[in-house]
Amino acid sequence: MKPVFDPTQYKITTKANWNTVASEYHYNWADKKIGPFRSTIEIAKLANIKPDDKILDVACGTGVVSKEISQFLGPNGLLVGIDLSRTALNIARGSIAFENSTFLEMDAENIGFNFKFDKVTCQYGLMFFPDSQKVLESIRKILNHRGMLVVAVHGLAEDVPYFSTIMKPILEHIPDIRPDGTPTVHRFGNLKDLESEIAKAGFVNVSVVRHDFVYKPGTFEEYWEDYMHSTANSIRSKIESHGKETMDKIKQDAQKNASRYEKDGNIVFPWTVLVASGFNH
Ligand SMILES: C[S@@+](CC[C@H](N)C(=O)[O-])C[C@H]1O[C@@H](n2cnc3c(N)ncnc32)[C@H](O)[C@@H]1O
Repeated sequence: MKPVFDPTQYKITTKANWNTVASEYHYNWADKKIGPFRSTIEIAKLANIKPDDKILDVACGTGVVSKEISQFLGPNGLLVGIDLSRTALNIARGSIAFENSTFLEMDAENIGFNFKFDKVTCQYGLMFFPDSQKVLESIRKILNHRGMLVVAVHGLAEDVPYFSTIMKPILEHIPDIRPDGTPTVHRFGNLKDLESEIAKAGFVNVSVVRHDFVYKPGTFEEYWEDYMHSTANSIRSKIESHGKETMDKIKQDAQKNASRYEKDGNIVFPWTVLVASGFNH
């Protein structure tokens, strides 16, 4: 019988997973501003930060967006980051020099502040929240009048082959790897879906911009090793429990999928990112 999706269990796993991969994620990827992380600069540009702005960075992780934004804040500005992962938050605390910054362990589905922010950012977080509407509605409530939300999400599976090249064969060989209803990274990857999700929560003047980046994970072996130890960390032991034969088949299929992106032995993946903004009315 296929397992049933349990949001609480999912959050416990998410937290443990990000505690494990946060350091690698930050130093090998996010902080280098490569591939999809070129959106970090786009978010800060779009948010048009003023020195006195009070900013909340939701699912701030290791704080790459917070760090980018902090450069534009002055002594009357405020920066708050929230995330489930204590390890990620500690990296954020250690990498941001801006004095008026605070990084708190808080579930985005239970945001609790009794003051208002001017801007809220959320990079690669929205798709992970089981009740994304609850998060967006509570973000709107803690935004000032005309306060701004800026969100970045990954595109659809076909536009972000970094994920689908390996995930597709995993799902084909182990269909019950995750319960039905588990949020996927591509959940808001369609422009219209993202726009309507944000508008549904009461935001106005919602607009979405598509960015097409490129990510070079190296050779297939390098890509496979990195994916299995970072992106697939939370499901790796379950895949391994199916035995070497299944793992070999997944790898073979993934290699076939990856071949169309190979140039001179190295993979070059396109990577679509959607950056959305909306305002509290
Ligand atoms: C892909 S990372 C993005 C981190 C950061 N925004 C960045 O751009 O590098 C996703 C983050 O979402 C966090 N997260 C997932 N579910 C969450 C929730 N319910 N509340 C708060 N943070 C959550 C994870 O802990 C992780 O740090």
